[in-house]
Amino acid sequence: MLKSFDIYSQNNILKIIVALNVLLVGTGSLLYTNRLINKLEDREEQYVQLYARSIAYLVSSTHTNSGDITFVTDQILRANTTIPAIYVDPDGQIANYRNLDAPKEYTPEQVEQFLRQKIVEMKKRHNPLVVDIGNGERGLVYYTNSRLLRQLTYFPYALLTILTALGVLAYLAFSSSRRAEQNRVWVGLAKETAHQLGTPMSSLMAWVEYMRSDPAQYDQSITDEIEKDVQRLETITARFSSIGSIPTLKDENITDVVQQFVDYLSKRISTKVRMSVTSHLPPGQTIKVNKLLFEWVIENICKNAVDAMKGVGELRLTMVPLPHQEVAIDITDTGKGISKKNMQKVFTPGYSTKQRGWGLGLTLAKRIVEEYHNGRLFVKSSEAGKGTTFRIVLHAD
Ligand SMILES: Nc1ncnc2c1ncn2[C@@H]1O[C@H](COP(=O)(O)OP(=O)(O)OP(=O)(O)O)[C@@H](O)[C@H]1O
Ligand SMILES: [Mg+2]
Repeated sequence: MLKSFDIYSQNNILKIIVALNVLLVGTGSLLYTNRLINKLEDREEQYVQLYARSIAYLVSSTHTNSGDITFVTDQILRANTTIPAIYVDPDGQIANYRNLDAPKEYTPEQVEQFLRQKIVEMKKRHNPLVVDIGNGERGLVYYTNSRLLRQLTYFPYALLTILTALGVLAYLAFSSSRRAEQNRVWVGLAKETAHQLGTPMSSLMAWVEYMRSDPAQYDQSITDEIEKDVQRLETITARFSSIGSIPTLKDENITDVVQQFVDYLSKRISTKVRMSVTSHLPPGQTIKVNKLLFEWVIENICKNAVDAMKGVGELRLTMVPLPHQEVAIDITDTGKGISKKNMQKVFTPGYSTKQRGWGLGLTLAKRIVEEYHNGRLFVKSSEAGKGTTFRIVLHAD
């Protein structure tokens, strides 16, 4: 237990480091692009100022200036190929504009309307620059940021989204690889246990044979008891061995399997527990199961039920057909019940309320039902002090 807690806390530290890094890169890029955007914004404003001054120059001095300078200012006006700008002359007329493409089919009136709308939008972002054209007359240059700059504003958010998505993906990959690893440990352990038990068991069998052959020396009733225990050990070994490999499923008469196993089990549990089997399935109903593993499931659930009833009460197994070719096996006890908040918890490995419990019985049962039989196992209902019903659902096709 302690070891696994260690692993979890290491994982947490790793998660925190990764999260901190993402946060650092995220805020870093946010701050950096913000600085970049501010700088570019300053530059674009300087550019528009130049545009405004060029207009002022052109408008106020067309008559007196030489062609050369007109040519230069004209070049400046044209050089602005990115920043949308509109010059409104002192009479309020739109006299020049750059980088604003009204749809081609627009009439001059529609273009005018389009530009006026743009002016309204531009006013929201920047104050217009004043163009002093002499004689106290003033025009205005409205402008907004270039498309590049506007796109750049979204960049940090896009980056953050991508980083978050990557983080989530990494986390998912990480946790699924951890689950795969746990699976391997689990299966490997089961296989190894079965393997290790094999040798002492064959020698025990040989001892039993030896004792049988000499009834004068060895009390046969003791030999019988030992043989029963050895057989029990064999069953356990076979279970471990089948959970450690891909178990074969066979068509079995499910009512018979349950009935026979309950007969076997009822002899081994408290006589104050009344066990009963009721089947509402059509006679001869078969289901593909691995008998050995399926019996293990029933055993784990029944043993828990007996514990929950403190060895006194009723334990009913009921089989009912369900829609969609499914079959339910309900195991109902009259025990202490499970609270709502614990209904999911009972299936987590290590969860136990018993002094000597490992908290593995139901984990294993769920695994056998869901992963080896493609079925479902859950707490169907439970009431404190009254009892609990576990339900196993299996496919009947
Ligand atoms: N029928 C039931 N009624 C009430 N509580 C139950 C019932 N079945 C299981 N539980 C609760 O679920 C817990 C987990 O059961 P699980 O079989 O996984 O482990 P365990 O019985 O404690 O130990 P073990 O590994 O030996 O089976 C039990 O400790 C018990 O608190
Ligand atoms: Mg148990």
